[in-house]
Amino acid sequence: MPIAVHDFGRNNEFDISPVALARGSGQIVMHGNNNFVAIQDSRFATRLDIAMSGNGFVQIGYDINAVHLVLHLGPDAEITVGNAVSCNGLVRLMVHERASIRVGDQCLFGGDVDVTASDMHSLVDVATGRRVNPAASVMIGNRVWIGQKATILKGVTIGDGAVVGASAVVTRPVPGNSVAAGNPARIVRTGVTWDFRLL
Ligand SMILES: CC(C)(COP(=O)(O)OP(=O)(O)OC[C@H]1O[C@@H](n2cnc3c(N)ncnc32)[C@H](O)[C@@H]1OP(=O)(O)O)[C@@H](O)C(=O)NCCC(=O)NCCS
Repeated sequence: MPIAVHDFGRNNEFDISPVALARGSGQIVMHGNNNFVAIQDSRFATRLDIAMSGNGFVQIGYDINAVHLVLHLGPDAEITVGNAVSCNGLVRLMVHERASIRVGDQCLFGGDVDVTASDMHSLVDVATGRRVNPAASVMIGNRVWIGQKATILKGVTIGDGAVVGASAVVTRPVPGNSVAAGNPARIVRTGVTWDFRLL
């Protein structure tokens, strides 16, 4: 089944490669207005589910190869996925409010990975009544490998060539060419790169 597009809003724009639509499966659902979605050609049968509220922006590059990629966008949210990104299972990119997630080129995600730029609910200081957990954008560089069951939380930046270990909970920046692991994730190696091949 090709990717189905359900547009329940107004003024939504789609610039989606017919090849990606035909080869893929899943659905793109617009619950609100003024959203934009662009998806380039892909040689792979990606399962893609996108839900957008309003004023959202999604851009997905060439040759995405995903067992199941889910993008959830609240109002004014933005998600950009680069070229040749692979997902070996369910990967959820979630932006529930005004913020963004950017994923660079040639990244590899294990299965059951969550990336979120917001906590989805407010954490409130009792004395002041103010929210203390504002949304913060997530930036994942090029050629980043994220192990299975990892969780990347709001405001995290991950540098080019970095690796995140299985089941890590990442709350702080990860420098390029380093390995972060554990909960909360700590840097356990530096000066490394990784390769798809078993060398
Ligand atoms: C991140 C990873 C690649 C690092 O491999 P490595 O460099 O050989 O790791 P090591 O076994 O030498 O461990 C280095 C240190 O980090 C810790 N560590 C490594 N991976 C960890 C993890 N996922 N969670 C917690 N700690 C971890 C080790 O306990 C060790 O700590 P120590 O020095 O205090 O003993 C690997 O541990 C990993 O998580 N692999 C899973 C990849 C995956 O999910 N693949 C699915 C397909 S995409």
